[in-house]
Amino acid sequence: MCGIVGYIGEADATPILMEGLRSLEYRGYDSAGVAVFNNGAAAVVRRKGKLSALQEALDAGSPRGRVGIGHTRWATHGKPSEANAHPHSDCTGRVAVVHNGIIENFHELREQLTAEGHTFTSETDTETIAHLVEKHFTGDLLEAVAAALGEVEGSFATVVLSEDQPDRMIAARKDSPLIIGLGRGENLVASDIPAVLKHTRDILVMENGEIAEITKDGVALRTIDGVPVDRDVLKVTWDASAAEKAGYEDFMLKEIYEQPDAIRETLRGRIGADGAVELDELALATEQVRALNRVYIVACGTSYHAGLVGKQVIEAWARLPVDLDVASEFRYRNPIIDEETLVVAITQSGETADTLAGVREAQHLGGKVMAITNVVGSSVTREADGVIYTHAGPEIGVAATKTFVAQIAAVYILALYLAEERGFMDAADARAVKAQLMELPAIVEEVLNLDEQVKEVAANYVDEKDSLFLGRGMGMPIAFEGALKLKEISYIHAEGYAAGEMKHGPIALIDDGTPIVVVATKSHVYDKVISNIQEVIARDGDVVAVATEGDADIARHARFVFYVPETSELLSAIPAVVPLQLFAYHLAKMRGCNVDQPRNLAKSVTVE
Ligand code: AGP
Repeated sequence: MCGIVGYIGEADATPILMEGLRSLEYRGYDSAGVAVFNNGAAAVVRRKGKLSALQEALDAGSPRGRVGIGHTRWATHGKPSEANAHPHSDCTGRVAVVHNGIIENFHELREQLTAEGHTFTSETDTETIAHLVEKHFTGDLLEAVAAALGEVEGSFATVVLSEDQPDRMIAARKDSPLIIGLGRGENLVASDIPAVLKHTRDILVMENGEIAEITKDGVALRTIDGVPVDRDVLKVTWDASAAEKAGYEDFMLKEIYEQPDAIRETLRGRIGADGAVELDELALATEQVRALNRVYIVACGTSYHAGLVGKQVIEAWARLPVDLDVASEFRYRNPIIDEETLVVAITQSGETADTLAGVREAQHLGGKVMAITNVVGSSVTREADGVIYTHAGPEIGVAATKTFVAQIAAVYILALYLAEERGFMDAADARAVKAQLMELPAIVEEVLNLDEQVKEVAANYVDEKDSLFLGRGMGMPIAFEGALKLKEISYIHAEGYAAGEMKHGPIALIDDGTPIVVVATKSHVYDKVISNIQEVIARDGDVVAVATEGDADIARHARFVFYVPETSELLSAIPAVVPLQLFAYHLAKMRGCNVDQPRNLAKSVTVE
């Protein structure tokens, strides 16, 4: 969580820092600040609230200088306030620090530093870094930061400046992401690549335990322990404009409309000319795939819902039993994993702390870990044994949309691969499924035509406080996802439930006019879903259904129907989720909510 940016070069640092922070605001937005050095003296401006509040303060008087750091915060220690906003300083005010992560031993460090005479001005864990740097500084900032971080337990991505050596930035990371952008006569450091793309496409991805000394002319990378590191430069090929809104009102809407491409790109190159699924990334020999006795999927939030889809397809096609856990449970469960278990970690960002901890736990227990992620160079790509990239392009809206359908496309490919390698799918069935898979982008394009209708229907529910989302089979994870989307961006309470479970409790919530969204696409449990709809109607619930084109009958049961094109049952997850994303989007907009930056949320949850 939190976004960091640093600049050193010949240009005016403040606008560059602000531009970088804008592209990182998805990482947190409860306060923000910059520290800019001019002739060796630091000017710090911080504000509570979004970046716009900081920009207003800067408009009234912006510090000028050619080196600076900036931060947009998502609070962990200390409430959102100006005093707790980064950058933080030491007692002398000569050191400026921005930090993302959690310093677990900060209470002990703070007590110890206070006893040594340091005075703290914030409630944050970050401020301990500034005081530790002050304590260890004997003329070399790099050594002072390395020594300071040697005392720190927990996770950090941090950038440190000092008035004593204003011609350099020191950046270090452990378990929180940090990249360096290599420019000409200027260098940048940031939590994520889009923050530096306007300046350079040459990126150094820092690894855990590394520290970098960055001047305007160069970067020296080493481990915090002092071992020099030689890192290949990553060339970013995607366009900076991919991270802009491209004419859409919000990133979320743009990303909903990018879903056909996200699926297309994720499937591209996965099915070879001979029709075989190509998944070299799995890094497992055929004998190892055949020896697998189980798959264990670990993920959080929307990625967990993609995992629920994965469970159904892997079990159906590859006939492998699949366990599934939210990562925050898995990591502390002492799960049953052995060398014959394939653990699949699904994470859009590749930085979710709980999922990364799950990956480590699975590896510790002997499991082979395959990651499904959207972010090249993210932590999970370096820790997992193999990676399937989703190629959805950068997703800025906090609510995951295009990465969700891309994750589902990736689990379809994984399931097909496992099925073929294990000999559980005959050639004709495999061919048919692959042909249907390739039709999904066009199907989603068609579903996007429902946008206006969904908006009109949503207008009926603007003032609702509660809602239920129901589904069975493939409809169940989609109901869960529809509910998550609605609650996270519109703040309408939404329960996602297995439709058959409704009568075991949630049915009590239904009264006159409660909106009940039911995923009722054609499936082997369609009749059961219709029975559930009847139970809702009998209690005066107001049914909105997602159904398969041609199903005229459903209109007799539901007040509104969103028709999606027919696909095979196991592939229906993708078309069915799109109207629910649009439904959440329009309701949230009509309620005046900020859909790209919902309250209390952040795009990457890099803390436990
Ligand atoms: C999705 O809309 C949410 N913002 C959230 O649940 C998210 O899916 C979750 O935090 C997991 O993130 P990841 O995929 O980056 O690991």
